[in-house]
Amino acid sequence: MQMSLLQPPTIRMGLLLIVISFVGICQSADSQRPPNIIFILADDLGFNDVGFRGSAQIPTPNIDALAYSGVILNRYYVNPICTPSRSALMTGKYPIHTGMQHTVLYAAEPRGLPLDLKILPQYLNDLGYTSHIAGKWHLGHWKKVYTPLYRGFSSHIGFWSGHHDYNDHTAVEHGYWGLDMRNGTDVAYNLHGQPTTDVITKHSLNVIASHNATKGPLFLYVAHAAVHSGNPYNPLPANDDIVSKLSHITKYKRRKYAGLVMEMDDSVGKIVAQLQKYHMLENSIIVFSTDNGGPVEGFNSNFASNFPLRGTKNTLWEGGVLGAALVWSPRLTKLPRLAEQTMHISDWLPTLVEAAGGKQALGNFSAAILDGMSLWSALVNDSISPRKSILHNIDNIWGSSAITVDEWKLVNGTNYNGAWDGWYGMSELRHPSDYNWDQVTKCVTGQAIQKLKMLPSRADQIRLRRAATLTCQNDNRGAVCNPLISPCLFHLAKDPCEKNNLAKQYPKVLELLLKELQLANATAVPPSNKPDDPRGNPRLWNYTWTNFGDYSDSKNNIITNSPIVLQNCI
Ligand SMILES: *[C@@H]1O[C@H](CO)[C@@H](O)[C@H](O)[C@H]1NC(C)=O
Ligand SMILES: *[C@@H]1O[C@H](CO)[C@@H](O)[C@H](O)[C@H]1NC(C)=O
Ligand SMILES: *[C@@H]1O[C@H](CO)[C@@H](O)[C@H](O)[C@H]1NC(C)=O
Ligand SMILES: *[C@@H]1O[C@H](CO)[C@@H](O)[C@H](O)[C@H]1NC(C)=O
Ligand SMILES: *[C@@H]1O[C@H](CO)[C@@H](O)[C@H](O)[C@H]1NC(C)=O
Ligand SMILES: *[C@@H]1O[C@H](CO)[C@@H](O)[C@H](O)[C@H]1NC(C)=O
Ligand SMILES: *[C@@H]1O[C@H](CO)[C@@H](O)[C@H](O)[C@H]1NC(C)=O
Repeated sequence: MQMSLLQPPTIRMGLLLIVISFVGICQSADSQRPPNIIFILADDLGFNDVGFRGSAQIPTPNIDALAYSGVILNRYYVNPICTPSRSALMTGKYPIHTGMQHTVLYAAEPRGLPLDLKILPQYLNDLGYTSHIAGKWHLGHWKKVYTPLYRGFSSHIGFWSGHHDYNDHTAVEHGYWGLDMRNGTDVAYNLHGQPTTDVITKHSLNVIASHNATKGPLFLYVAHAAVHSGNPYNPLPANDDIVSKLSHITKYKRRKYAGLVMEMDDSVGKIVAQLQKYHMLENSIIVFSTDNGGPVEGFNSNFASNFPLRGTKNTLWEGGVLGAALVWSPRLTKLPRLAEQTMHISDWLPTLVEAAGGKQALGNFSAAILDGMSLWSALVNDSISPRKSILHNIDNIWGSSAITVDEWKLVNGTNYNGAWDGWYGMSELRHPSDYNWDQVTKCVTGQAIQKLKMLPSRADQIRLRRAATLTCQNDNRGAVCNPLISPCLFHLAKDPCEKNNLAKQYPKVLELLLKELQLANATAVPPSNKPDDPRGNPRLWNYTWTNFGDYSDSKNNIITNSPIVLQNCI
């Protein structure tokens, strides 16, 4: 019998009614309660380095289990390099609109993501969330107001710059060298020797364990150092025990890279298990995404694979911008599936805010002039994406730009003078049948998802993985593309590997895309890059990277005492 909560309680039935209505309220509140949001961002992960995309070389069973029981994002774009991509994630804006479009933020630069921009945790906090970050920030730290605790996060264990050594936590950059590991705004000397992936995982688990749901939902941003390379003296600091399990990978450096990927996969499993342990999993949205395409064949001293896509990290080819990603949540319908909805990393802000119940705040987004669009309803119900075009970037310093409109992509100019315009990592494939399906079921995430009865049959998993495996025909109808000479045009639906330049065959389409690019270019703000500030040199600050701008002015006068040693030689 359905008990109406509106039924007037009689004295005799009072107690019974109270009990029943309590249960009823809990149940309905549960499905309507705003979801916890766990955003796991891998650093520099290649498109071809997750099992669910068809590679069998690196075991990623935890990530794959989420993919096979959630939504694989098949047309999901990121920016081609760290800072621009992270700025788009946090602000919902293209980097050309925040000044973050040119290369990364270097650790001694006196700049950061502009402070007038409201960012994702701040939007979510306004909806009752508590936000935490574990891992890499890379959006500015020269003054503390640019750092996570001043921008909506309640805690941060991690680092401020773009990369560091996974064991000693120092970052070498432009001849400067210093420790970069923080607990909030304090230097975390105590974490020396603890592998970064473990530190990030531990903080994530602590945040989940101590989250008090009666105070609202959780936003946890897990920004891995993995699988970015470390310092030149040890570029791929993977755990030897894990690397030794990967003897099927013949190239040693690729094997070490694979070890970093596996450690990160393991972390995903621990986080999922912790969410389940604290009864949060069934009310969570988990996003797993790379920040940009993988650095291949020694690029940045790393050995990712984006095969069969063209290019590498920091190029505007698909290999630089088509990201490996998935979204998992019991709130999504028609699961599992491969999503064809076009999406850009800047879309997460409005998408997650809508998922968090902040649809009315969407009205305010137009005032904030977001480039991101909410895909929440498109992703939940598998309906059409509102997004028709993606500006991949315009970098007027390097002279490169690219835009996709519907199925067409324009590439004008290129970085590295064309040195990284090829296809890489073909030898990184093992035969797809080598894939270990048992691991998907047996791994921690597979187990957790089975408890929710969300893991599909093996046949469905195989079908999904096959659909997510990209192949390219050798159809050479088009011309060879040299974007340093003239803009190239590709039809991505037929040619995701960018082999056939159709600029000559489709002059009208080319013209239309060039016009779109010019329109976008007219709205660009100047890039905010600054030369390294000598005050940022860690040598001056007890060999730590710090918020030097708070302690000294541009004339090198000390304006307030630093909590860490300042040597007398600015
Ligand atoms: C961070 O600092 C807090 C407060 O001092 C402390 O309780 C916590 O254990 C520290 N975390 C780590 C990982 O060192
Ligand atoms: C959770 O928060 C509520 C409301 O502030 C408080 O009453 C309760 O004691 C907290 N629970 C724990 C375990 O801290
Ligand atoms: C829109 O922004 C204004 C100013 O920040 C704020 O006062 C208002 O509550 C917001 N409206 C909604 C619907 O979020
Ligand atoms: C999904 O579709 C259902 C049925 O049409 C609708 O009630 C619901 O609001 C949709 N969800 C979202 C997030 O748009
Ligand atoms: C290509 O980009 C360059 C700048 O990088 C720009 O000057 C040029 O106008 C662009 N080409 C076209 C055809 O728009
Ligand atoms: C964008 O506009 C600037 C001038 O404001 C110009 O120098 C640059 O070449 C343009 N870039 C592209 C890609 O058209
Ligand atoms: C300087 O760094 C060392 C570790 O390298 C640390 O033990 C010491 O406490 C630091 N000094 C200050 C003043 O922070």
